[in-house]
Amino acid sequence: MPIYLLAIETSCDETAAAVMCDGKLRSHALVSQMEHSRLGGIVPELASRQHLRAIIPVVDEALQQAGIEIHALNAIGFTAGPGLIGSLMVGSCFAKGLALSLQVPLIAVHHLQAHVHALFLADTAPAFPFLCLIVSGGHTQLVVVRDYLDMEVVGETRDDAAGEAFDKTARMLGLPYPGGPAMDQLARSGNPHAFAFPEANVPGYDFSFSGLKTAVRYFIQQEEKIDPDFVQKYRNDLCASIQASIVRHLVHKLEAAAEGLQLTRIAIAGGVAANSWLRQYVQQLAQSKGWQVFIPPLKYCTDNAAVIASVAYHKFLRSDFAPASIVPDARYRG
Ligand code: KG4
Ligand code: ZN
Repeated sequence: MPIYLLAIETSCDETAAAVMCDGKLRSHALVSQMEHSRLGGIVPELASRQHLRAIIPVVDEALQQAGIEIHALNAIGFTAGPGLIGSLMVGSCFAKGLALSLQVPLIAVHHLQAHVHALFLADTAPAFPFLCLIVSGGHTQLVVVRDYLDMEVVGETRDDAAGEAFDKTARMLGLPYPGGPAMDQLARSGNPHAFAFPEANVPGYDFSFSGLKTAVRYFIQQEEKIDPDFVQKYRNDLCASIQASIVRHLVHKLEAAAEGLQLTRIAIAGGVAANSWLRQYVQQLAQSKGWQVFIPPLKYCTDNAAVIASVAYHKFLRSDFAPASIVPDARYRG
């Protein structure tokens, strides 16, 4: 009997559902909330309401694409955190209700473990152990991945996440939310050496991005005193220089951890792993160091339910089920 699993992701501003059959992805559907763009950032209450609107159509679409009826499902996985609590509540209540009514196991998934699983949905997955840089809108971590569900955090940001650094500085340049993809695009025709921003000096494998944010703000304020059109005139160079700064810090720490922990299989994951400059920089460094590098397909980098399904499947194999009383947690640790 094949095992059909439905996974649901609602941790931030994407409502997503995916179906896996015996560990193979059969479908994944997603609605990205565009309402936040004009508001300059995610409005948590609005995100929760939008999840409520989207969740049933998205789940229906995933089931339809997979060509199965809801009664064929054998397990329900959902993101239990970390994330926005109101958003997590919508997905978890839906998952719990469905699991109870179908009388099938419920599986709680850690959102960051799921980002790592984007690597297992690629044609060539890394062998264990490997070092993974997880870079998203809410998190920046260096993780040693020993098995599908065995991951150790060896470094993390002490303030802003890398995605947040992209989004907040992009906003200073007048770009819409989320700023990361727009900055990546504009940076292609900018000069990464046009402006120099200092790199944070943080011990070990930890990161810091709040200094960069402040440096960019003061720099723009100073320049605008001389030329009020400064940002407009130099937007692409600013994008390229800020992006280069963020990526440099990420890659320096990745390199330090790989050397310190003597790991030669290196991977990146999370929304910021979609960044073309980061992808290119990591590939080049890997070549010069003789590392094997693994970069997930673009569509699995940003939030989606396919990666939630992958974690849930491995938990299903271990009968690692959640009680119906489980409550999602914005700071979920798994
Ligand atoms: O993983 P994700 O979809 O959601 C979270 O779990 O946070 O990551 C979203 C983040 C946003 O900050 C967005 O600006 C950033 O990923 N991002 C990018 C790119 N695509 C998405 N940052 C830089 N370059 C990109 N191409
Ligand atoms: Zn995410």
